[in-house]
Amino acid sequence: MSRTAHKHAKKAGKKTLAGKKAHEEEPNKAAAAPAKPVAAVSDRQKNKGDDRRRSETAATAEPPPDAAPPVEEPKSAAEVMAKKQRDISVSEFFLKNRHLLGFDNARKALLTTVKEAVDNSLDACEEAGILPEVCVELIQVTENRYRVIITDNGPGIVKAQIPKVFAKLLYGSKFHRLRMSRGQQGIGISAAGMYGQLTTGVATKITSKTGPKKKAHYYELQIDTRKNEPHIVKDDEIHWEQAHGTRVEIELEATYQRGRQSVDEYLQACAIANPHVTFRYRIILLPKEEKPAADAPLLQNSTTPPPQLPDWIVFERGAKELPAQPQEIKPHPHGIELGMLMQLLKNTTARNVRSFLHSEFSRVSDRVALEICQCASLEPKSRPSNVAFRESESLFKAINDTKLMNPPLDCLSPIGEVQLLAGLKKEVDADFYDAVTRPPSVYRGNPFQIELALAYKSPGKPKGEERGASAAERNNESPTAEEPIRLLRFANRVPLLYQQGACSITKAVQGVDWKNYGLSQPRGQLPMGPLTLLVHMASVWVPFTSESKEALAGYDEILREITLGLQELGRRLSVYLSRRRRDLEAQRKRDYMQLYVPHLALGLKQILGLNDKDEHKIITKLKTMLERTHLQT
Ligand SMILES: Nc1ncnc2c1ncn2[C@@H]1O[C@H](COP(=O)(O)OP(=O)(O)O)[C@@H](O)[C@H]1O
Ligand SMILES: [Mg+2]
Repeated sequence: MSRTAHKHAKKAGKKTLAGKKAHEEEPNKAAAAPAKPVAAVSDRQKNKGDDRRRSETAATAEPPPDAAPPVEEPKSAAEVMAKKQRDISVSEFFLKNRHLLGFDNARKALLTTVKEAVDNSLDACEEAGILPEVCVELIQVTENRYRVIITDNGPGIVKAQIPKVFAKLLYGSKFHRLRMSRGQQGIGISAAGMYGQLTTGVATKITSKTGPKKKAHYYELQIDTRKNEPHIVKDDEIHWEQAHGTRVEIELEATYQRGRQSVDEYLQACAIANPHVTFRYRIILLPKEEKPAADAPLLQNSTTPPPQLPDWIVFERGAKELPAQPQEIKPHPHGIELGMLMQLLKNTTARNVRSFLHSEFSRVSDRVALEICQCASLEPKSRPSNVAFRESESLFKAINDTKLMNPPLDCLSPIGEVQLLAGLKKEVDADFYDAVTRPPSVYRGNPFQIELALAYKSPGKPKGEERGASAAERNNESPTAEEPIRLLRFANRVPLLYQQGACSITKAVQGVDWKNYGLSQPRGQLPMGPLTLLVHMASVWVPFTSESKEALAGYDEILREITLGLQELGRRLSVYLSRRRRDLEAQRKRDYMQLYVPHLALGLKQILGLNDKDEHKIITKLKTMLERTHLQT
């Protein structure tokens, strides 16, 4: 090796040792290569190639006669590309594609962060059988930087798990089970922390306590995005007055704006679909004139006295019972795909195909398992791992040809009509409420259930007086008769605030002919009117259109169920509206006739020579008659 080459090698070694990854350098070098196409192999390289070839040929017994001096094959495009091919860590992927996780703009980032933390808090509380109390605090730190603090009274998280839960993507407890829950992918909260880290450099701060006699664990965490592994900045044991629970603090670049798609709307919608939860919420904004520069010190370090803290807004729970605990189920054979079946066959601990079918799936009894084997012409005692590709295909076909019971439904925990109405009445001011729960159904082997509710506020009616400045008035005006209805979409009790147009719930609502039910509707759009319409899909696996979990995919079975539910609600609404129209008409007539009552009484008085007392009597009697006629209509 020449001295310069030696030096280079040494340098490269040093770089690697110094922590600058060798593979970081490679792609750049390779990237430069295509500028000089394959023919541009340097002389030195050629010579090196020749040397190697010579020594190779020397090793073989027979050198090829009168062989032309060997020339190194030019590098193929595939070889050049091979140098650039390497692992992509899931964190790097989502860092680049943060819009997939709901972090595409600063306003949405704030909402997504709150949503992910609140979803986790509610999931954890319900799983532990605790009535949830969740505090949501937003603190504006600079013009476009916020600190989000979510505290719950849940079961807490054991120390060893905290770093992975909050600083490793695709790590969670819900992905591998078939049971209804808000979270499913194991991305949510760690992605929020990663976004915070990327935009502000501040670590996610976690406090968690698992029991009254335990110490609380305090962590400051960052994600090593290259490895998708947690990096612990601080690890401490602290005193925390709370008996158990978790507190998550994330600082991120964000903007806050009231109104539609805001944190306020999200929490209110959450309170409707989760009437068993108490939310406490406050937002501390910087005083408008004194907004410091972006790099100004944080609130607590400021020398000016802190501004008066706003009061907590409380969404009080309307129900004291927790929803029924959904049970975990095994996959239903009709929802399984061939590749998945092959994988299960390879990994199972079952001794034979018959017991494999019985133990790995729901709704397959021992007798049905035997039936499937016979249908697939398979020996029931054959080892699952030995079932060859062809056999697994015939097994797959046999499974789908066998009639099976629908999957068990205790894996779902629907809100229920009573609770839905309680939530809606608590938060939306209206004159008519109704709810429909569809029977459970199945898409791709996954059980699901659709629930619907509506609140109709008659135009021109004053707001319910007893409600005072309730949550309904704070944030949630019913639309007017000339506006499109307000559609509240939910999946596993989580409000979906974005991508309304892409969601199959919206498509189903647009597909119903609302004119049949007394509402006006521009062609192919949402109907118009002072109506709040709520649609909830409960499922063990909600088919979201993307990881940001904002819209439901359009499976036919789901669309059909929503449509049937909407039609049922529509019929009930139309009965209410026509009764209301009749009442209004009768009222109008009565008011009109009442105008003439005093004149009639006066006329009678004059004709019959009655006194004032009799005149008053006549007026009262006529009015009572009118009232009675109204009641009879
Ligand atoms: N507040 C919390 N209390 C208890 N456990 C939590 C809490 N937040 C998160 N976890 C645990 O961390 C896991 C990962 O959360 P996340 O990244 O949001 O994924 P997912 O909710 O989709 O499973 C959850 O599955 C849950 O087991
Ligand atoms: Mg989650």
